[in-house]
Amino acid sequence: MNLIRNCMLAIILAIVFAIIVLPYYGGLCAFADDGTTVVPRYMPVYRDINPNDAPENIHNAVMSGYDILINTPGYFGGKLSCGNCHFLGGLTKGGKDGGISLLGAAATYPRGSAGEAKVIDLQTAVRNCFSKSLNISPPPPQSRQMQSIIAYLHWISHDIPIYSKVPWLGLPPVSLPQNPDAQNGGKVYSTHCAKCHAKDGSGNKATPPLWGQNSYTNASPFNNQNIFSAFVLFNMPKGNAKLSQQQAQNVSSFIMSQSRPFWVGK
Ligand code: HEC
Ligand code: HEC
Repeated sequence: MNLIRNCMLAIILAIVFAIIVLPYYGGLCAFADDGTTVVPRYMPVYRDINPNDAPENIHNAVMSGYDILINTPGYFGGKLSCGNCHFLGGLTKGGKDGGISLLGAAATYPRGSAGEAKVIDLQTAVRNCFSKSLNISPPPPQSRQMQSIIAYLHWISHDIPIYSKVPWLGLPPVSLPQNPDAQNGGKVYSTHCAKCHAKDGSGNKATPPLWGQNSYTNASPFNNQNIFSAFVLFNMPKGNAKLSQQQAQNVSSFIMSQSRPFWVGK
């Protein structure tokens, strides 16, 4: 009796295993023909997004959020736009000439942040950039402007599964040479940057400032050697990034040694 019962139990377990566990395992990892595992299904794939394709119920908010990112001074004054660092309002794949992408960023919040002890949400990340990078008091949480920016950032992330690892976010990591030389960086600046950003770093009509009263504050992530050098290495001169790692690091040191607004925590 016992033997028959055990046998039946084993058969039932085998069937359950075959029906439930095997397809689940196979579904998580796609297998190539030769049996090796390929990219898991949940790895996000980059796809171009056009904010104008947003559905009717959020269309106005998304388009107005997009406009705020591209033309920030038109709403808040100052000389910096979000898009000066987040090129095309963040609608890029990052990397070379891509600035700092924002496509998919909304899917990665709330989360812990290196700079802050607590978990931060998307709106806090936006507030941080307003305050520390643009030196502007962020619009209140319930304001139409903040709500539009959040709607925009959410909508451009609608393809990206929540909490997936988005490979194009942030700046690519670089291992920099040691001993930055700010004096040499001054020469790199005159040769490769000054014609657009002006000799005194104040920018011009079409180019944002790099230091001085209209630039980002000392608390911006841009006032960090690694982050700033990576941005310059991959993106500047605009459309024609060509500096060596040493030159990028030198010019970063030079720019970091100039005066800029002191963050007062607004
Ligand atoms: C051909 C003109 C041009 C040259 C040369 C150039 N830039 Fe830029 N730079 C721009 C423009 C335009 C933007 C804004 C991009 C946008 O809004 O899409 C920008 C943005 C930036 C930004 C981010 C916004 C800010 O102002 O903080 C930094 C940093 C920067 N440039 C650094 C440099 C450095 C360093 C060099 C020299 C190695 C350089 N750029 C050379 C045109 C130029
Ligand atoms: C002077 C450059 C600069 C400006 C201007 C700027 N940002 Fe940023 N932003 C950054 C940097 C640098 C980071 C951090 C990137 C990293 O951690 O690698 C960042 C991060 C972010 C993030 C989080 C992205 C992520 O992957 O988690 C959001 C959202 C964001 N910015 C929104 C904005 C908005 C909205 C504006 C305009 C109000 C703005 N930023 C203006 C430089 C800038």
